[in-house]
Amino acid sequence: MTARITLRRPDDWHLHLRDGAMLEGVLPETARHFGRAIVMPNLVPPVVTGDDARAYRDRIMACLPSGMDFTPLMTLYLTEATDPHDLARAHAEGVVTAVKLYPAGATTNSQSGVRDITRVQPVLEKMAEIGLPLCIHGEVTTPEVDIFDREQVFLDTVLDPLRRAIPALRVTLEHITTSQGIDYVAGASGDIAGTITTHHLMINRNHILVGGIRPHYYCLPVAKRSTHQQALRKAAISGNPRFFLGTDSAPHTDDAKQSACGCAGVFSATNTLSCLAHVFEAEGALDRLEGFTSLFGPARYGLPVADQTITLEKRDTPVPYPARIITGAGPVTLFDPGHPLYWHVIA
Ligand code: NCD
Ligand code: ZN
Repeated sequence: MTARITLRRPDDWHLHLRDGAMLEGVLPETARHFGRAIVMPNLVPPVVTGDDARAYRDRIMACLPSGMDFTPLMTLYLTEATDPHDLARAHAEGVVTAVKLYPAGATTNSQSGVRDITRVQPVLEKMAEIGLPLCIHGEVTTPEVDIFDREQVFLDTVLDPLRRAIPALRVTLEHITTSQGIDYVAGASGDIAGTITTHHLMINRNHILVGGIRPHYYCLPVAKRSTHQQALRKAAISGNPRFFLGTDSAPHTDDAKQSACGCAGVFSATNTLSCLAHVFEAEGALDRLEGFTSLFGPARYGLPVADQTITLEKRDTPVPYPARIITGAGPVTLFDPGHPLYWHVIA
């Protein structure tokens, strides 16, 4: 008997597409399976103004191979100099779907991010007023705080006070990696949701460090111990609409990853759906996959669910995918779940 599952076409609520040759190389990997994606603004220089977002959206659409159907949902990179009026205009004109908060220094290309959250208070108040969601990279950057504790400390010292100060602010806590993050989002009152990546459902910190260091598993927030991984899996399959997919697929060339100071980011666009079907099946929750990939995100962002569908079929033979894709910017290694995958996207 062949097992098949048909889902409304998925969306990715946290994606890095980069620019130029890298954009051209990775865009089809997402557009093949996903209808829409929230596109991260951490380019160099970052996407800060409405005009920047419009121009970036045009560059993405110009790279989209003909015959592919994909809508990039643009974000602005919040800086301490962000103009609330420009942001409100970009929202009113339908150019931006969300704004991204990077604590300065927290991750790749975050140096233009926010150092002092009180300095962006007027912008956040404006966002609360107009209903523009804030996507948050939830890690403190305080040097004394251990890298494995940075998400948990952020919840108590930044996120909770911020939400108390501006209760109407719509918040998405992105790429949650801890049970504390899951508990916070599940238990908080008010308008909050959380995204979970594919790779954080499949790896924990042992995968990065045991038996040799595996740079392609290094991302931020860094994967935590297995008990946290289990909490993420439980949340993803829970059917709680506050939790949905944001792959955080973040391509870097192999040179940049396989280095004495390798950069953070896991590239998972190509095989993400096969990975997710594997995880949900292993958890006995294939019937919850569609909510996670295709229903809860649109509901959260007030967008229609997709008309199109995608079908996966479980076969005896493994899904063929390359170890790396070749882009004009260089080779990019694909997320390796560590075992074969059998759920093929067939239509
Ligand atoms: C992302 C990137 O490479 O842009 N890296 C990562 O490890 N996730 C940035 C981010 O989302 O933190
Ligand atoms: Zn990211």
